Amino acid sequence: MSPSSSQPLSSDWFNPHPVGRTPFSKSGKPTILMCPPTYFTVSYAINPWMQEAPPCNEALAQRQWETLYKTILKKAGANVELLTPEPGVPDLVFTANAAFVYNDMAIIAHYKHPERRAEEPICAQWFEEHGFLPVLMPDHVFFEGAGDALIWQDRVFAGYKTRTDIASHSLLTAATDLPVLSMELINDRYYHIDVCLCPLQDGHLIYSPDAFDEYGLAVIEANVPEKKLIPVSAEEAARFACNSVNIGDTVILNQGSGKLVDDLKQRGFQVIEVDLSEFLKAGGSAKCLTLRIA
Ligand code: ARG
Repeated sequence: MSPSSSQPLSSDWFNPHPVGRTPFSKSGKPTILMCPPTYFTVSYAINPWMQEAPPCNEALAQRQWETLYKTILKKAGANVELLTPEPGVPDLVFTANAAFVYNDMAIIAHYKHPERRAEEPICAQWFEEHGFLPVLMPDHVFFEGAGDALIWQDRVFAGYKTRTDIASHSLLTAATDLPVLSMELINDRYYHIDVCLCPLQDGHLIYSPDAFDEYGLAVIEANVPEKKLIPVSAEEAARFACNSVNIGDTVILNQGSGKLVDDLKQRGFQVIEVDLSEFLKAGGSAKCLTLRIA
């Protein structure tokens, strides 16, 4: 592990890189890492969505990804950096899992399923080449990056059990000084915390009550003021409503979550729906396809 950071905690998710020295943090713009879906398909099944998936339409996936990419770039006004796609690692497109990024540190994923482990050195190399300090988990500790660790205000909501080991949470704190709230994921369909919980600007929090046990729900309620809580229905959670990308006051999400869209608009967000049907077949949606790196 790298030495722990002596930097003060960021109290604002929208400036989570206050001491960044990477070229991206210097630009002053939010920067998102994405990976074109050149080799994306559903060729193995490591979650229930993949087990049940009808065949993936790769050409459609390509068009859907491009729409998401252009939406983030042009409508949300973020920089987008691209990871070079590689054959044999179809889930590399889900850059949310690549690492947990904080300041200039990238805590690299160590995947539970062997199917995804070939992604680890590809991502570690990318972060190293782009000015980040790559931090590796010990071999016996699984950790699936920002898929399972989300900064809300000055703390991290982190999922464990289905994929990520709870042992990674104390290592996350040791590396970043950030306090981590450990949340057991109790529903196989919501195997990463980013498919059932989503921090937004100004402390708002979208979450699916069905994905957590009583303790997890109590942790959410104890940390987030009631007026900032945005619970979603089981139907909208299954449309990946919680897997939203928030940049400034823009929220980008898959189609089919009308109630959440109305709720977000009432709270002052500009909401953009993008059809991501082909990625849902792999168990991912908008947020899984992105990683905030500055
Ligand atoms: N097929 C991928 C997996 O099961 C999907 C990953 C989705 N990523 C995410 N951050 N939730 O690992």
